[in-house]
Amino acid sequence: MTIERVFVAGAGLMGHGIAQVHAAIGKQVTLYEPDLDRAVAGRERIAGNLDRAVAKGRLEETARDETLGRIVATDDLGTAGSADLVVEAVFEDVAVKTGLWRDLDARAPEGSIFASNTSSISIDLLAAALAPARRARFAGMHFFSPVPVMPLVELIRGSATDAATEATIRGLADELGKSVIVSADRPGFLVNRILMPFLAEAMRALQEGVGTAEDIDTGAKVGLNHPMGPLELADFIGLDVCLGILGVLHDGLGGEQFRPPEVLEELVAAGHLGQKTGRGFFTYPR
Ligand code: CAA
Repeated sequence: MTIERVFVAGAGLMGHGIAQVHAAIGKQVTLYEPDLDRAVAGRERIAGNLDRAVAKGRLEETARDETLGRIVATDDLGTAGSADLVVEAVFEDVAVKTGLWRDLDARAPEGSIFASNTSSISIDLLAAALAPARRARFAGMHFFSPVPVMPLVELIRGSATDAATEATIRGLADELGKSVIVSADRPGFLVNRILMPFLAEAMRALQEGVGTAEDIDTGAKVGLNHPMGPLELADFIGLDVCLGILGVLHDGLGGEQFRPPEVLEELVAAGHLGQKTGRGFFTYPR
């Protein structure tokens, strides 16, 4: 199946990036938020990304205009009625996601493919919100932030996901220039299962006073050649998001390495969620 029209639900950190990369390769994209201002803000964020690329000489002005011209911001869920692919990138909350998927199932064409960008919630749990016939065409399509930069898609097969859906998602990822890894539907899938204990251990080292936040991050950047240290990366992902993923991992797999550190719980309770609120383990702009 060829994907031409993509409906992206959620215009936040992940959703706007997902919309951008699809529009950049010629897909017609609808960017949905229940609040139109937020959908428009997502599209403006894409315009800002594209303007930066033009300023750096990486993108022609005509390509910027054509890419933007392929993106429509909307608050009308009914526009999913013409989508070949629906990608959901809303807040990591089972009730929010299942409610939205139920509504989309009633509106999208029978043959369209559904993909969730969930970073940790079970694909089978989300699939249960869909009509049985749709479940075969539902999978996880997990992008990494910043989406235009990170060349990976983690494809999560649910127990009902069929081979044609997997092949279509693989084909699309290929068009996007992204490598694909396949994960079974287990808590945290592959990447967050590896990443989150690393971030949590850095937080535990900090709360035990083993070293400063700066030295922990410098250790990973200079000693391990990571582009960001674990505390800055946690701030970048969002501390609320990290806490949510660790919760799913700890509940589902049970290891001490997944237990959310107190310092993380305290920062989230205080509303310090990382870069998006201007403060997390560090303050921003740095
Ligand atoms: N959108 C689009 N492009 C962006 C961008 C954004 N938000 N942020 C940076 N870029 C681009 C820049 O334009 C630049 O492009 P050019 O080289 O072509 O000019 C390039 O990325 C490098 O950016 P900078 O020079 O400004 O900054 P940098 O060298 O410090 O790199 C970074 C920034 C790419 C974010 C780098 O620090 C990095 O790779 N960090 C780690 C990111 C990471 O691990 N992401 C995965 C998080 S986990 C996740 O997303 C999944 C989950 O479920 C939690």
